[in-house]
Amino acid sequence: MLAIIGGTGLSELQGFEQLEKLAIKTPYARAKVRLVRIGSGNKEFIFLPRHGAGHKIPPHEINYRANIAALSDLGVTAIVAVNAVGAIHGDFLPGSVAVPDQLIDYSYSRDVSFFDGKLKAVHHIDFTNPYSEPIRQRILEATEVVNSHSKMGCEVMASGTYACTQGPRLETAAEIRRLARDGCDMVGMTGMPEASLARELEIEYASLALSVNWAAGMSDAAITLEDIHEVLEGGMEFVSAVITEIVQQS
Ligand code: HPA
Repeated sequence: MLAIIGGTGLSELQGFEQLEKLAIKTPYARAKVRLVRIGSGNKEFIFLPRHGAGHKIPPHEINYRANIAALSDLGVTAIVAVNAVGAIHGDFLPGSVAVPDQLIDYSYSRDVSFFDGKLKAVHHIDFTNPYSEPIRQRILEATEVVNSHSKMGCEVMASGTYACTQGPRLETAAEIRRLARDGCDMVGMTGMPEASLARELEIEYASLALSVNWAAGMSDAAITLEDIHEVLEGGMEFVSAVITEIVQQS
């Protein structure tokens, strides 16, 4: 079963049929994880709004363990995560998308593992390649189909390194210069520990990242939420079309 994790701008999936609302209890949170079973043509998938319904949970307070455990309990074996990001790479213009193949985790104070010696014994996963290559390819193929069938014409960066910062504040210009020196191409706040928790439960995971602003100091303009939301609205049309295509091929 495929799951889509929606981020900022994708708290609700439009144009799909809601089949069932689900609430899953996990050992990792008092509150149940709320998800939706979605129909698309004759296929179905699970949708999880990462920030909760109505986008109320900030990146550093998301219960990533509960989210991934709930998806695992539902029998999810593959995840396409949608992440809004700031662009560091000069070619990654706001409004375009990337499918990262590497990441660096700068976040802290998050519950990062199921293997904490309590509910599960201590274990160290291989995370050399943090994203599933088969899922990455599925996303990339879907972007090609959507670009060839529609007039949307969205630029796609086929690889790149995702930096996960703690948030919720945006970065300083010096922090972004450091991330650039580290080889990061984009920056977001929600990519980790989501990706590694999925790997711990042997769920294939990859990300479709939408560039919504130039990262701090990359342009002279101030970063405003108004500008970000405008880019998000435009980009989510392409992202929804890509999701539809991925689901149809599943
Ligand atoms: N930094 C961190 N996270 C983000 C950004 C950014 O510039 N844009 C969207 N998510």
